[in-house]
Amino acid sequence: SEEKQLRPTRLAQYIGQHKVKEELSIYIKAALNRQEALDHVLLFGPPGLGKTTMAMVIANEMGVQIRTTSGPAIERPGDLVALLNELEPGDVLFIDEIHRLPRVVEEMLYSAMEDFYVDIMVGQGPTAHPVHFELPPFTLIGATTRAGMLSAPLRDRFGIVLHMEYYEVQDLQEIVLRSADIFRTDILEDGALEIARRSRGTPRIANRLLRRVRDVAQVENDGIVDSKTADRALAILQVDHEGLDYVDQKILRTMIELYGGGPVGLSTLSVNISEETETVEDMYEPYLIQKGFIQRTPRGRVATPQAYEHLGYYYPQK
Ligand code: ADE
Repeated sequence: SEEKQLRPTRLAQYIGQHKVKEELSIYIKAALNRQEALDHVLLFGPPGLGKTTMAMVIANEMGVQIRTTSGPAIERPGDLVALLNELEPGDVLFIDEIHRLPRVVEEMLYSAMEDFYVDIMVGQGPTAHPVHFELPPFTLIGATTRAGMLSAPLRDRFGIVLHMEYYEVQDLQEIVLRSADIFRTDILEDGALEIARRSRGTPRIANRLLRRVRDVAQVENDGIVDSKTADRALAILQVDHEGLDYVDQKILRTMIELYGGGPVGLSTLSVNISEETETVEDMYEPYLIQKGFIQRTPRGRVATPQAYEHLGYYYPQK
């Protein structure tokens, strides 16, 4: 499928995240050289930056199988044992949203990660007894959006900790050009640049916008994506020139119009815009902070003078 083709399979094809790639390529080479499993890897970063893709690339580079699951999907210790039981030596187990693992499952991971075994309780009542279960050496790759969400004992068991950053515009432009090639879409450099600038530093968003811009180009511009068709499509999608979407804009407007620019608590804000607190914290706030539109203070979130200016409000001197 198109979707599947969009994911790079090798480190050399993976655009952006230069620091992460540089580190990983060394650790992968060293592990391959020693013929050992790669140490456990923790990937931090906002949604849509390619954490899952990176896990697949790592497995590919190591020449091993990857099994993919997520924190909330592993409900009981038995679910984890079933997954671990399938692993061949060196395989990757990828757990997305690892901060949402149930406590009992997380605790079982400790010995699995550290010494490659689990002790499981078999039977009930007076006949209950622990059974020792040896595992092959494997690589756990965990992904999570927020550093603060992970317990210290779990975090400390990852030998390799990598932070994914929002992408540079130049890297996003390259991703858009690559995706357009896969879609067999005619695109000009300036069209790719316009999409890249307005994708919130996020490849997933860039690829989504590209699909919509491609639709507009097909109907209005003989299928050719240039900066003008990109701008037309993005106006229809209510993505502004800083790449803020409808929800981003609503967050800033709410802060300014209802709370005098703040400070306002995250949960209060989330209720006002009808989004989950976690969604605001993981998806929206980090980018608004990075762009300098929101500041975190001990008493809550504050809209900056740049936010006022960007949305066309007069900034009251306080
Ligand atoms: N498609 C989505 N993200 C990508 C990336 N980082 N590199 C190459 N292609 C991509």
